[in-house]
Amino acid sequence: MITIKSEEEIALMRESCRRLAILHKELAEFLRPGISTLDVDTFGESLIRKLGGIPNFKNYHGYPASICVSLNDEVVHGIPRADRIIKDGDIVSLDCGLIYKGYHSDAARTHAVGDVSPEVRELIAATEKSFWDGIKMAKAGNHLYDISNGIAESLLEGGYGIVRDLTGHGIGTSLHEDPSIPNFEMSRRGPKLKAGMTLAIEPMVNLGGDDVEFLDDDWTVVTADGSWSAHYENTVLITDGEPEVLTLEVES
Ligand code: MF3
Ligand code: CO
Repeated sequence: MITIKSEEEIALMRESCRRLAILHKELAEFLRPGISTLDVDTFGESLIRKLGGIPNFKNYHGYPASICVSLNDEVVHGIPRADRIIKDGDIVSLDCGLIYKGYHSDAARTHAVGDVSPEVRELIAATEKSFWDGIKMAKAGNHLYDISNGIAESLLEGGYGIVRDLTGHGIGTSLHEDPSIPNFEMSRRGPKLKAGMTLAIEPMVNLGGDDVEFLDDDWTVVTADGSWSAHYENTVLITDGEPEVLTLEVES
């Protein structure tokens, strides 16, 4: 069932997402060569709490950390570790969320650390662009898979691999609610979009093929061909007009 949020709930979603946007901004400034992925998690978790939030990823189906930190060929759900050091030339995907007064937010960014090839920088930019191309279709009265097809068309032009084993999702009083939101071409139209739906839209995009594998740590998802991968996610509110992207970084 896809929930429609009331005005009161939307206000709480906005506030949860505003706090998450601050977290992402601070995490981006914190990233540098020489720190471990666990340093990112430790910094992020304490900031979530300072922001008045509760980490929603921690202990989610047993996930052991607050921030998913995924490097290079890791697509998503990398587990922070003290012995995993971020180097110049790495790309780092940070996926995180928080709960504020019972309402979840969820967003992801991929950052280039230092000297990263133009091809990989374009991958990161194309992943972000596909999100925006997808949400052009995110209007009440359109259908869910109009978003999926918008994302897919944007990426297929560039010859990128689209991860098909993971999708975006509804979000609200739970981190993952209905519907599941594919980032690939769909022939059906899917449910009709209605004002008050809140959706986490999150293309996961590979420089190589579509296929991914799951590592023995039970979480880390990597590309099957070892190609590098980027992720871009925002929590979005469907309205009767333009969609509202709730987790965008604010100017300060
Ligand atoms: N944003 C992630 C997703 O929607 C949430 C990760 S769940 C965790 O898949 F358990 F890995 F934290
Ligand atoms: Co998500």
